[in-house]
Amino acid sequence: MAETVIVNDVGPRDGLQNQSRILAPEQRLQLIGAIRAAGLDHIEVGSFVSPKAVPAMAGADSVVAGLQHLAGGHYSALIPNLRGYELARDSGVKAVVMVLYGSQGMARRNVNMSREEADTVAGTIIERAREEGLEVIITMAVAFECPFDGPVDSGLVADVAGRFLALGAERFVLADTIGAANPQQVRDLTRTLVDRHGSDRLGCHFHDTRALGLANVYAAVESGIRYLDASIASLGGCPFAPGASGNVATEDVVMLMEQLGFATGVDLEQLLVASDLAETLTGTAPGGRAKAWLRPWLAGQEAVDDTRQHLVATDAYIQRFPA
Ligand code: COA
Ligand code: ZN
Repeated sequence: MAETVIVNDVGPRDGLQNQSRILAPEQRLQLIGAIRAAGLDHIEVGSFVSPKAVPAMAGADSVVAGLQHLAGGHYSALIPNLRGYELARDSGVKAVVMVLYGSQGMARRNVNMSREEADTVAGTIIERAREEGLEVIITMAVAFECPFDGPVDSGLVADVAGRFLALGAERFVLADTIGAANPQQVRDLTRTLVDRHGSDRLGCHFHDTRALGLANVYAAVESGIRYLDASIASLGGCPFAPGASGNVATEDVVMLMEQLGFATGVDLEQLLVASDLAETLTGTAPGGRAKAWLRPWLAGQEAVDDTRQHLVATDAYIQRFPA
């Protein structure tokens, strides 16, 4: 049986937080529903942050309330601080994603805290969440490079990961917030962490700013990472990190994983429906590279037959999507 890779769609949060067009909670739920219908169980549905800081995430509680119609998913919400934790808990969401920082500059710009203050708050949140029955995922922003402070020391990142996994974080996710990492850095850091902690509780989050997003995904998976954030139609970018562009596209990551023989549980045809919806709703979704090839292929158009012969797929892929 094929090994599983979890693709966690962060589009409804990382993707939508930075769009000029602000979507109503009902529209965000529509997008989440489409992603869920494509077979993605893990979805980051929004964030409990100051609506003054990020107007597009206002009404996250309404989004969470609407999820009861979408049974069976593993839904999470991003939080920046204790207030965010309390709002998330009160909304009824079962998993929170608390953000830590690889640099002082990013911590200060994003949440007006020092790196260490954010660490302390995260420790408190893990304790509270244990008592209150919530799961805490820790995402470390700018785990490779910071737009304000430059390269981040991988030793520091590894230390923080070890500390928070020991404290009981469900998962520790390395985020290349501005898309500045290269596959060698990713390979080295993920190997170190997988060697120390195993792969079950680790994850990665890449942006595609320098066209290295998928290469970084591949490097992480080669090291044993089996949990990847991605964003439908490559929506994304952080409003507080200059130069951050969209996340790696869910379409591209899923196609790569399937070609490598992993099971993702995703129906690519339905995923394109979700990608189209993201594009319609935002008006700006750049879309994954895989989409242009997948669409005619899934529709069985003859025109792509030649192309397909050149894009040699693995046996697993051919079995799954027969001509
Ligand atoms: N959700 C909603 N409101 C919050 C909040 C949260 N998690 N945390 C603080 N606030 C409110 C406070 O209640 C206060 O409200 P008021 O002005 O009506 O009194 C106001 O925000 C300022 O609070 P303060 O503690 O002084 O925070 P700050 O001004 O230093 O701002 C954050 C810090 C964290 C609130 C703000 O920068 C933020 O929400 N950032 C989110 C960043 C983000 O989402 N980045 C992208 C994802 S990593
Ligand atoms: Zn991101």
